Amino acid sequence: MIKKLKQHQDDFDLLISKVSTLKELKQLRSEFLGKKGCVSLMLGEMRSLPDDQKPQAGKHINEFKQSVATLIQEKTQVFEKAFDQASVNGEEFDTTLPGRRNSSGSIHPVTQVMDEIISIFFSLGFKVEEGPEIESDFYNFEALNIPKDHPARDMQDTFYIGNEVLRTHTSPVQIHVMENQKPPLRIIAPGKVFRCDSDVSHTPMFHQIEGLMVDENLSFGDLKGVMNIFLHEIFGQQTKTRFRPSFFPFTCPSAEVDIECVMCSGQGCRVCSKTGWLEILGCGMVDPAVFKSVDYDSERWLGFAFGLGIERIAMLKYGISDIRLFFENDLRFLKQF
Ligand code: PHE
Repeated sequence: MIKKLKQHQDDFDLLISKVSTLKELKQLRSEFLGKKGCVSLMLGEMRSLPDDQKPQAGKHINEFKQSVATLIQEKTQVFEKAFDQASVNGEEFDTTLPGRRNSSGSIHPVTQVMDEIISIFFSLGFKVEEGPEIESDFYNFEALNIPKDHPARDMQDTFYIGNEVLRTHTSPVQIHVMENQKPPLRIIAPGKVFRCDSDVSHTPMFHQIEGLMVDENLSFGDLKGVMNIFLHEIFGQQTKTRFRPSFFPFTCPSAEVDIECVMCSGQGCRVCSKTGWLEILGCGMVDPAVFKSVDYDSERWLGFAFGLGIERIAMLKYGISDIRLFFENDLRFLKQF
């Protein structure tokens, strides 16, 4: 009996040293301490021993039982500590199982591009200003030298709310800033604008950034320099730019700025309508009529202004073909940025 016990003890010592999962530990417990385990079998066998040997054998078996129980208990605790809840439930710890991620959101591509543009102008000494999204006719049109019945109003399909309008561009911020601050000025004004328009390249709401610099001795050359620095920063230093004469009531002379098509490198493709160029922004020297409406002395001060659409830049930067994707809130789209 003692010999048998010694054999069981050796078996157990070997087996427990090899155990590596809670499942195996459970199995070991039932092999040794279970109803049909070796301890109960030995207790059964003990009954057939002569009476005088029973107490001695019982003592040994119980000591063995105790030590097996303690060792299993100890090892269980070690495993439970190391393993996660799944292991505690008796499942094996699967090291290949992907961890639980916190799904954090990301910054919307329009906001990303807006932040990038702001930081470029910030480095050139421009500070950010904001204005209201609902404007009076005066700020959105009249102070910008767009009188009532002027055909230039047709350039922008306006949403009217009673006597007010949803601003059709960020240019009215120029007026607010000049009414409240004295020159010299270097400001940019990012924000939402609204036009009654909707197709693959237009949404009724989109974002613009306005820029305005007012100082003595400013020239069209300064405007060109600032626009070139900005466009090279955002589209890459190799990007070719071109200034085309244009018309805006609030700037004179006015220009539209094109960059060489980013899709075909100027070869001509669908995106640039085979011209090799993409229109990026409008700009010009501040018209004296605008200075007059904010009481700036146009004999002393000169200025340049520019306005650009953020979605358009984001579309060209990321190769997005439909502007409406920005506002559908489809996570499959948004997660790519
Ligand atoms: N406000 C003009 C537009 O929305 C852009 C612009 C701004 C042009 C400033 C010249 C100067 O089309």
